[in-house]
Amino acid sequence: MKQEPLLLAALDVGSSKTAVLICERNVDGSLTLIGFGESKTEGVEKGNIVNLEKVVKSVQKAVLDAETMADVRINSVSTCVSGEHIRCVQSRGVHPVASGEKGEITHEDVRKVIEAAQAVAVPADSEIVDCVAQSFVVDGQEGIKDPVGMTAVRLEVDATVIAAGKTQLENIRHAVARLELGLSDTFVGIEASSVATLTPEERDMGVAVVDIGAGLTQTAVFLGGKMKFIHIFGYAGNSVTRDIAAGCVLPFEQAERLKLEHGELLIPSDNQESIDIPGIAGREPRRVKKSFLGEIIEARFEEIFSFVRGALEKQNLYNKLVTGVVLTGGSSQMPGIVPFAERFFGLPVRIGFPTRLGGMSNLVNAPAYSSSVGTVLLSSSVAEEKQSASKKGKEERGLLGVLTRWLKKKF
Ligand SMILES: Nc1ncnc2c1ncn2[C@@H]1O[C@H](COP(=O)(O)OP(=O)(O)OP(=O)(O)O)[C@@H](O)[C@H]1O
Ligand SMILES: [Mg+2]
Repeated sequence: MKQEPLLLAALDVGSSKTAVLICERNVDGSLTLIGFGESKTEGVEKGNIVNLEKVVKSVQKAVLDAETMADVRINSVSTCVSGEHIRCVQSRGVHPVASGEKGEITHEDVRKVIEAAQAVAVPADSEIVDCVAQSFVVDGQEGIKDPVGMTAVRLEVDATVIAAGKTQLENIRHAVARLELGLSDTFVGIEASSVATLTPEERDMGVAVVDIGAGLTQTAVFLGGKMKFIHIFGYAGNSVTRDIAAGCVLPFEQAERLKLEHGELLIPSDNQESIDIPGIAGREPRRVKKSFLGEIIEARFEEIFSFVRGALEKQNLYNKLVTGVVLTGGSSQMPGIVPFAERFFGLPVRIGFPTRLGGMSNLVNAPAYSSSVGTVLLSSSVAEEKQSASKKGKEERGLLGVLTRWLKKKF
């Protein structure tokens, strides 16, 4: 019997746009984009839902558009969460493999020790959304990558635990439920962006992926194939626009247009070009020097990059970024950003495009869709794990088990 392709839908509620992707998962595991919908997000500030009604409307529009394009109805979505509420905690889990005599470490022991690492104290208003096993300690021997099959009395794991604010998680669950959709999986936005843009070599040798959106700048560091650290703060493209609005005395929407049409980094200071700005509310039209606009934009990008560098230096990770920095998110499309960032970081920089889908992937082949594409890629991996687990007749072990095993394998 011919197997029907599995439908996977991803929802990304960003601070500026809401995107929905519908993909077919083919038998060989590849994904074909068959539907895409996008709407302007209303009711989200710096990644946080502040008006549920407005968010429901934005999501509804994007879902309908994607369904119309794909000519299918979806009944569930996977999503990703972003925001300053996301915390990254390093934790060590301990698990006795056997009492007295040494025992052989099984997959079940590994699952239990990772579970133990999640018993860390996260704030009461947070929920653990992911746990990445970094390395294992077998009877005191550190740095073990895969302990299964070794004999020991005691197994420990060093893990990176990621927690998200309960209120924000509940808000996105409510928004999805209001549209009578099921929520399959919830991933961390910057992990999704990483999956969509990084190469295995970068993840192995050391890289920082920086997703600069509208409301948030999100960074993740990968080293030795594993995600080591996440850092998120609430300054990004909207902050650039607000600075232009203040510096050029313009309303936000007009400043945004000016940024998109004429914004550039590294404009030589002797550039004499001027831009005509139409007068608003009966005021006279004005001229703004392109170099002045460039200075405003540079000052904010410099500040954003300083926050990123500062956070990574504090973790002693900055000097480990052998392959440099991958910039993604809508604001990474600012002209001149690659040489500007290379000069700032003193590291190689490239723009991360999400390129791993087939079908109408040209619709989402832009840095603004890295987290949306990554969400569908992650949900596909979870689906694959679930399929192979049920094939083997193994019982389901829930999102964390599945995801942790997948991340362990993949990164
Ligand atoms: N060509 C461009 N040059 C500069 N900035 C751009 C360009 N295109 C889009 N942007 C900026 O990218 C931002 C939107 O990026 P993106 O779609 O990644 O954000 P988001 O996912 O909605 O928000 P967030 O991830 O911050 O919650 C806006 O601030 C917009 O001005
Ligand atoms: Mg985003």
